[in-house]
Amino acid sequence: MKTCSNAVEVDNLTVNYDKTSVLWDLTFSIPPGVLCGIAGPNGAGKSTFLKAAMGVVPALSGNVLFFGAPLSKRRRRIAYVPQRESVDWDFPITAFDVVLMGRYSRFGVFGRPRSSDREAAERALELVGMQAFAKRQISQLSGGQQQRLFLARALVQDPDILLLDEPFAGIDLATERAIYDLLRGLRDQGKTVLIVFHDLENAERYFDWLVLLNRRLIACGPVSEIYTREHLARAFGKTQPLFEEATALSAKTLAGLE
Ligand SMILES: Nc1ncnc2c1ncn2[C@@H]1O[C@H](COP(=O)(O)OP(=O)(O)OP(=O)(O)O)[C@@H](O)[C@H]1O
Ligand SMILES: [Mg+2]
Repeated sequence: MKTCSNAVEVDNLTVNYDKTSVLWDLTFSIPPGVLCGIAGPNGAGKSTFLKAAMGVVPALSGNVLFFGAPLSKRRRRIAYVPQRESVDWDFPITAFDVVLMGRYSRFGVFGRPRSSDREAAERALELVGMQAFAKRQISQLSGGQQQRLFLARALVQDPDILLLDEPFAGIDLATERAIYDLLRGLRDQGKTVLIVFHDLENAERYFDWLVLLNRRLIACGPVSEIYTREHLARAFGKTQPLFEEATALSAKTLAGLE
């Protein structure tokens, strides 16, 4: 029997848009109970990777396993928050109902939410600091507030694996810290959290595990081993401002690695 000690196992994954390969032959794994950062330059294929993992875009070849099984067997244990696009839904739906939608897999489209579902939705809104907006129409929330709402909708599913595409984009620093603490709490409970992010200077502080992507896998492993000048240069290219910024900020850590 195949062991399933890894939360996520990516095996020879290649993804094309039309005839162009965006992700090439990725193979790596992520253990359970880590906060895993996924970084790479714009267009590196980070969002595409999460979409392929969630079956939103098809893989040309290869596959992604969650706890040793394909998505179809694990869907209820996984929550995914896509990269933010401004939501301008023209039907009226409150913030509370958006979060409650995260419980649909439990009560079904034709079922009715139970009081436990409503309580879970209230708790999730509180966790992201959005309880005051419960009755607000989603179209009347700011971009950052919508982002927090979608995170609440993911949290209410009580997933074992959480895939978040740039959850900190457009969010103020205090909220970012609060959300990070929340995610760290989930990690401490044994959940696995994958986070696409851009602020490289936070990588060592925020994450246990790091995946560097640039169409191909550049490196994957414990952040202490992966966050090196060489790997960052390969992922971002030496001329990238991000690379300069990250290395300047981490000069102390990186000095010992040269
Ligand atoms: N639906 C699509 N059809 C064709 N090409 C696409 C599509 N979506 C993305 N791409 C291309 O695939 C590449 C990877 O895009 P992706 O969105 O995965 O990058 P990313 O690493 O998430 O970038 P960012 O940091 O800007 O979010 C880019 O070159 C992009 O232009
Ligand atoms: Mg993206």
